[in-house]
Amino acid sequence: MDSAYRLPEEFFTEWFLVRRVQPSDGEAIFAGWATDPQVTKYLTWRPHTDLSQTQEAAERSNREWEGGSTFPAVICRRDVPSELVGRIDARLVGPRVSYGWLVRKDHWGQGVATEVVHWAIDHALSHPMIYRTEAACDVMNVASARVMEKAGKRCFGGIFSIQTCRTNQGTLSCTPKFAETVSGSTAGRLHGRSFRP
Ligand SMILES: CC(C)(COP(=O)(O)OP(=O)(O)OC[C@H]1O[C@@H](n2cnc3c(N)ncnc32)[C@H](O)[C@@H]1OP(=O)(O)O)[C@@H](O)C(=O)NCCC(=O)NCCS
Repeated sequence: MDSAYRLPEEFFTEWFLVRRVQPSDGEAIFAGWATDPQVTKYLTWRPHTDLSQTQEAAERSNREWEGGSTFPAVICRRDVPSELVGRIDARLVGPRVSYGWLVRKDHWGQGVATEVVHWAIDHALSHPMIYRTEAACDVMNVASARVMEKAGKRCFGGIFSIQTCRTNQGTLSCTPKFAETVSGSTAGRLHGRSFRP
């Protein structure tokens, strides 16, 4: 029987080292993005005002990994691994993997999210028990929606549809974008049919 999907504790993309959040990352996360109102504008948590909040969050993220269903990871520069430039969280929901992501503001628009998200979805969809990857964002969050749109186009059967969530800018009535990517062969196996035309 196949073992459950897990994000690797450490992996490399072309430009980045992505690894499990460590309790010692608190200070770098606080300095990098946790207090930034622009980075947190469309997130579901408020900017931190005190280092202790970020340290506690980093410890919690590190512990969550043990549960085998939530994999919070930081994105570091390959050439300067001590420099944290963002974060990706993968959550296992049955046969699906759901993502959250952010990038430090001074690295926006340089392809960080695209590169790391593509690696993550390729990895997830190559696992025999995963047939879908997904993410949600506020409808006003055009940058994140674009990351999702590109991820959706990447895989055969990519879909772009709508769901709802609550962010710092929205209320329960806000309508975010939602992207999903479906692995044709795996989904076909699971549903007893082929998605290929
Ligand atoms: C969303 C976010 C992670 C994107 O990260 P990034 O590394 O800057 O994204 P990329 O550089 O890979 O760009 C992805 C695409 O979005 C586009 N894009 C980036 N910023 C944009 C903006 N402000 N407006 C419109 N498009 C934008 C890029 O041009 C690119 O599209 P292209 O390849 O067609 O040119 C980053 O903006 C961020 O951290 N935002 C705050 C946190 C957040 O909202 N996270 C998502 C919660 S769902």
